[in-house]
Amino acid sequence: MKKLTRETSSKKVREVIHNRAESPILIRRRLSLFKRALLGADKEKEAPLSLRGIPKTDTDIKQFDGLKIQAVIFKSEKSIVYHATVLGTSHQLALKAPTECGLANREWLSSFKHEIRVLRRIEHPGIVQMTRAAKISERPFYTSNLILGKNGAVAPSLSQLLSETKISTGTAVRYIRELCATLSWLHDSGILHGDISLSNIVIDESDRPKLLDFNLAVFLDERGRPVGPIARGGTFGFAPPERFTEEWGLMGTYSDVFGIGAVLKWLLINRVPSLWRDFAVAPRRNLEGLPLFQISAQTLPSEIPQKLRAIVAKCLERNPRRRYRDCSSLVDALSKF
Ligand SMILES: Nc1ncnc2c1ncn2[C@@H]1O[C@H](COP(=O)(O)OP(=O)(O)O)[C@@H](O)[C@H]1O
Ligand SMILES: [Mg+2]
Repeated sequence: MKKLTRETSSKKVREVIHNRAESPILIRRRLSLFKRALLGADKEKEAPLSLRGIPKTDTDIKQFDGLKIQAVIFKSEKSIVYHATVLGTSHQLALKAPTECGLANREWLSSFKHEIRVLRRIEHPGIVQMTRAAKISERPFYTSNLILGKNGAVAPSLSQLLSETKISTGTAVRYIRELCATLSWLHDSGILHGDISLSNIVIDESDRPKLLDFNLAVFLDERGRPVGPIARGGTFGFAPPERFTEEWGLMGTYSDVFGIGAVLKWLLINRVPSLWRDFAVAPRRNLEGLPLFQISAQTLPSEIPQKLRAIVAKCLERNPRRRYRDCSSLVDALSKF
């Protein structure tokens, strides 16, 4: 075993301190300030035990800066989305905030702030509208118009919808066309979504798709090239290879074509992908944007109608130059279908 010298051990300590986003004490302090702001100092005394001190989870929050929390719509390791109403009214909103874990992760926190910056620039009927962004005790959050689904409940994501119902080929193609129209507008406004996936699209009460989640969005310059460094990340099986390797060049409008192609593929197969069943082969290589992205028409499952196979395969080309250049070229191809 390698012996730790005084020098290497102090180097290790420096590394640990450097790598840790924040000390646990600081995080605890922030969270308790955050709790007080949520509940009000007086209310904190009357609050049930679970609401005093540091929350074990973020799901026990009942009020948030003038909003009444109705339910948790979604919770992942780093973010939480609540269904909220404005106190004393029935006005409904969605509220997205970092979880304790997200708050402690400097990289994720900065992508959340980036999302807020991107959303400030966006106003489009096909995209979830941010209504307010603020901070409580250094914890950023934002609210957006709550999207409702057909039955008056919170709109399902395409991923939820696919797990519950069958979606016809005609409806799938219509969703893709509408998403492409929204994305073309977004690209013309100098923004790539960068993380198109089944769970970042919700279907509203008029059966129309709406895009959300701009954590990984990329600003484009006038020539359509990314501005600033590219965050490596994205949804497994949906993220374009050029996000992970510059082997094929920079990200561009064709990067969202890849994500849309993956969405179309799963809509046509009519089920959500299973991480193990569908992506079990060499997951590391896949994450790095290697072999699994090279999908040819022949390897696409037979559930996909023959005429659409070539379109899906072209969207999912590993080499961006072989894909549709942008969303309007994809729509042109779909109109011939
Ligand atoms: N305004 C909204 N209306 C309805 N549902 C929403 C809204 N915002 C988020 N959601 C739901 O919350 C889920 C997670 O939101 P998202 O922004 O994608 O968070 P994350 O960055 O953690 O993936 C979405 O898949 C969607 O189902
Ligand atoms: Mg998401």
